[in-house]
Amino acid sequence: MNDKTLINRPALVNYMEKLNAEKQRLSHQHIREMFADDPSRFDKMSITNDGVLFDYSKNRVDAKTLSILLEVARDSDLEQMRDTMFSGGKLNTTENRAVLHTALRNFSGEPVTVDGKDVMPDIKAELAKMEGFANSVRSGQYHLTGGKITDVVNIGIGGSDLGPRMATQSLREFNDGPKLHFLANSDATDLDDIIKLLDPATTLFIVASKSFTTAETMLNARNAKLWLESALGQDIGNHFCALSTNLEATQAFEISNERTFGFWDWVGGRFSIWSAIGLSLMIAIGPKRFEEFLKGASSADQHFLKAPLEENIPVIMALLGVWYRNVFNFPVQAVMPYDSRMARFPAWLQQLDMESNGKSVLKSNEQTTLDTGPIIFGEVGTNGQHAFYQLIHQGTTIIPCDFFLSATGYGGKENRNMLISNCLAQTEALMNGRTLEEADNNPHRVFEGNRPSNTFLYQKVTPHVLGMLMAFYEHKIFIQGVLWGINSFDQWGVELGKELVPAIEPMLETNKDLKAENSSTQGLLDAIHAMQK
Ligand code: F6P
Repeated sequence: MNDKTLINRPALVNYMEKLNAEKQRLSHQHIREMFADDPSRFDKMSITNDGVLFDYSKNRVDAKTLSILLEVARDSDLEQMRDTMFSGGKLNTTENRAVLHTALRNFSGEPVTVDGKDVMPDIKAELAKMEGFANSVRSGQYHLTGGKITDVVNIGIGGSDLGPRMATQSLREFNDGPKLHFLANSDATDLDDIIKLLDPATTLFIVASKSFTTAETMLNARNAKLWLESALGQDIGNHFCALSTNLEATQAFEISNERTFGFWDWVGGRFSIWSAIGLSLMIAIGPKRFEEFLKGASSADQHFLKAPLEENIPVIMALLGVWYRNVFNFPVQAVMPYDSRMARFPAWLQQLDMESNGKSVLKSNEQTTLDTGPIIFGEVGTNGQHAFYQLIHQGTTIIPCDFFLSATGYGGKENRNMLISNCLAQTEALMNGRTLEEADNNPHRVFEGNRPSNTFLYQKVTPHVLGMLMAFYEHKIFIQGVLWGINSFDQWGVELGKELVPAIEPMLETNKDLKAENSSTQGLLDAIHAMQK
C-alpha cells in the first residue's frame, strides 16, 4: 500500500472484485425467491425512524451482500467523515469551506465551531430575526401601502428556489399565510404570468440568492422592481427583502440590512432551505411549523449519527445506490411520490444529487475510475404509471426506484386507497414480474421482475416528515460522495456555461458582427438573427 495512487484511491475500488463476485453469486437468485426463502425478509430489511418506515427488502441483496457493502463504508472512514462534517471540518476542499447545513437544525444545545468560533449564536439570532419578520408579515403588523401582505414572491434559482418551492407545495395543507409564488427562470413570461395574479400594493418580493450575483435572479429582481415602481411610484423599498451572504450587494440593490436575512459560506446553495433561504416557507406555514420542519431534519441527523451502520437509513440508501451504480452499472435512479403535493420532490432531488455527485475528479485531484452520481428523475406515481413506467417494467435499462407513500394523506379514503394500492402493486410487479408460463407463453406479456425498489411510508406529509425525508437524501448523497472519494459540496461544472454568456450576449444585439467560436454557434446565431427580422 505504499503506492501513492493506491492510497489516493477510494476504498471502494479495492472491493470491486469482491462485489462483482457477489453480483455473480446472486445472479441466479430472483428477489422473489429471496422472499420465498425468508418469510422475515421484510422485518429484517426495513427500518423505522420517528414515524418514517424505510422498506428496502425489494432489492437484489441479502445479508452477505450488505455485510460487504458495510465493510466498504467502514473502510472508507465513513463514520469519521460524518463526524468531521457535523463538527465543522472543511470537507469542501476545493473551496476550503466547512459543510454545516446540519448546524442549522442543531437543537442539541452543543456548540458547533468553524475556525474556532461557535456558529450557533449567529444561527439562533438569524432564525429569531426570520421568525419575527415572518410573524409580522403573517399578522399584518408588517404591512404595505395596500395593507396586509397578500402575496409573497420568492425570486431565486437553483437552491434558492427548488427547496422552498417544493416544500411550500408539499406542505400546502399547512399554508395559512399569504399566497406564495416562485420566480426562477429568466423567461419574461414567468414574471408576466405571476404579476397578473398580484396586487402590487400588497405584494412582498423576497430576493433569494446566496451570492446575490446570479444573473437570472438579478434580472428578475430588477424587473420586479420596475413593475412595482411603475405601479406605485419610487417609494417601494419596503416591498423587498433579501436572503443572502453578500451584504454589499443587497445594500447596492437598496434593500436595508433590517430586511436582509443572512447565512454563511458553509451553507451550500442546495442545502440552504434550513437557513434564511427558508424564509418564504416560514412565511407560508409559520415559524412554529418551520421549527417542526427543522426538527424533522434534526431527527434524521441524530439517526445518521447514532444508529449502527446496518440499521442506518441513509447509509443503506447510499450503499444500495453504489451497489447498483458501480456493480450493476445502472445509470439512473427514479423517485416516485404517490402524492400530488410532492410533485416537485424529484426536481429538488435532481439538483441535490446531480449537482453534488455529478463529478469526475477525486478529492485527490485524480480522475475517478468509478462511475459517480446517477441520473435522477421522477414523477408523481400514478401519472408516471401512465407515462414512462412501461420502460421501468420492461425496458432494457433497469432503474432502481424510490417510492413515497402516505398511509392517510389528506384526501378522501377512496382516492387514498387507490394511491396506496397502485403504489404497492407497482413495487410488487417490479419485484415479482411475470413468467412466460404465467403470461400464457406470450413473450410481450412477460415481466422479468427482479427490479429493485425502496419504499418510504409515513402517516402523512407533515413539516416534520418532509424535513426528515429531505435530510435522509442529503446524507445519502454525502455518504456516496465519501465512498466515491469526490467533493459533493462544490459545483464547478455549472461555471463554464455561465462564463460563455457575456461573450455571446453582445452577438445578439449590440455587436452582431462578432463571430462565434464555432460554425454551429454561428450558424444558430445567423438563423436567430434571420428569424428575429
Ligand atoms: O449555478 C448553480 C448555483 O450556483 C447553485 O449551486 C445555486 O443553488 C444556484 O446557482 C443559485 O445561486 P445563488 O443562490 O447564489 O443565486
